Amino acid sequence: MSDARPSEAPSLPAALEAIGETFPARFRAASSEALLREEKAKLLGKKGDLTAALKIMGSLPPADRKAAGELVNGLKAAIEKAFDERLGAIEAEALAKELAGPAYDLTLPSRAPAPRGHKHPIGIVRDEIVDIFRSLGFAVHDGPEVELEEYNFTKLGFPPDHPATDMQDSFWTTGGHLLRTHTSNVQIRAMLGKQPPFAFVAPGTVYRRDDEDATHLPQFNQLEGFLVDKRVSFAHLRGVLAEFAERLYGPGTTIRLRPSYFPFVEPGAEVDVRCVFCKGKGCPTCKGTGFIEILGCGLIHPVVFEHCGIDPQEWTGFAFGMGLERIALLRYGIEDIRLLVENDPRFLSQFR
Ligand code: DAH
Repeated sequence: MSDARPSEAPSLPAALEAIGETFPARFRAASSEALLREEKAKLLGKKGDLTAALKIMGSLPPADRKAAGELVNGLKAAIEKAFDERLGAIEAEALAKELAGPAYDLTLPSRAPAPRGHKHPIGIVRDEIVDIFRSLGFAVHDGPEVELEEYNFTKLGFPPDHPATDMQDSFWTTGGHLLRTHTSNVQIRAMLGKQPPFAFVAPGTVYRRDDEDATHLPQFNQLEGFLVDKRVSFAHLRGVLAEFAERLYGPGTTIRLRPSYFPFVEPGAEVDVRCVFCKGKGCPTCKGTGFIEILGCGLIHPVVFEHCGIDPQEWTGFAFGMGLERIALLRYGIEDIRLLVENDPRFLSQFR
């Protein structure tokens, strides 16, 4: 039997010394970031060498613990530092190797090209209608969606107690502003401080307090048309709309006008196109009538001119307004307007 006591565990300083002597070589031998991290885990991880050494600390007499703690912390810091240095070296090596290698060919096509976006059905219809009016000589105007009550209603001849101005029917913000309920506000904006002639269309988003269902949304899109010049008559209005209908729905498409009322026109009318599905014979889409309503229109009311500083004795004009959703639903045979705002790719991809 020797004097040594074989049952005794190695002393803490000896264990730490062993770790301290071997870790630099272990790190140096790690040739990749992954191997380096593995090596670090074998030292500092839960089952690592240093962690095992620490367990010995608990068995030390309290007087020795402070010195032992300092040793452990010092070693840990040295390991962390060596790790960082080796990681930096590995990264630098990889970069140098990449830079020395063949250059990237930036002209190569990507293997998985990003899917291309495409227009929304409302955008398709809007752009097509705008193009038609552009080719007829109309400019394109824009207007604010948060609008003064004065420009959305008052100057257009709505009486103060008109139901459309009701809290229940419109979205009011503050200071006499509301979300515009139609694109007719652009008429007022165009006239203020300016004199005719005018000829423009104004597509845009409008808002009404409607509960949504298959045919209503609280937010939808309209396109306003506006033309003012000398001696503009109802015949001009009819001519422009007849030409528009033929260009949108194809040659031979006819329209009919029915008297109607809007505060800002006199006379006012609603325009129907002969049903594009049954050619006027009567079908479910036109509810058997042979016609489908597509817009409201009329000659600009003298009072609207007066509100905007334009002499109604000198100038006359027409205006019209149509709902883009309605036209898109009819065009594509979509039965529920909500499909237009749900952003379901299975629906939208059909318009690619
Ligand atoms: N602003 C009307 C609406 O939202 C549509 C309209 C009707 C516009 C007749 C016009 C017009 O310019 O002349 O229901």
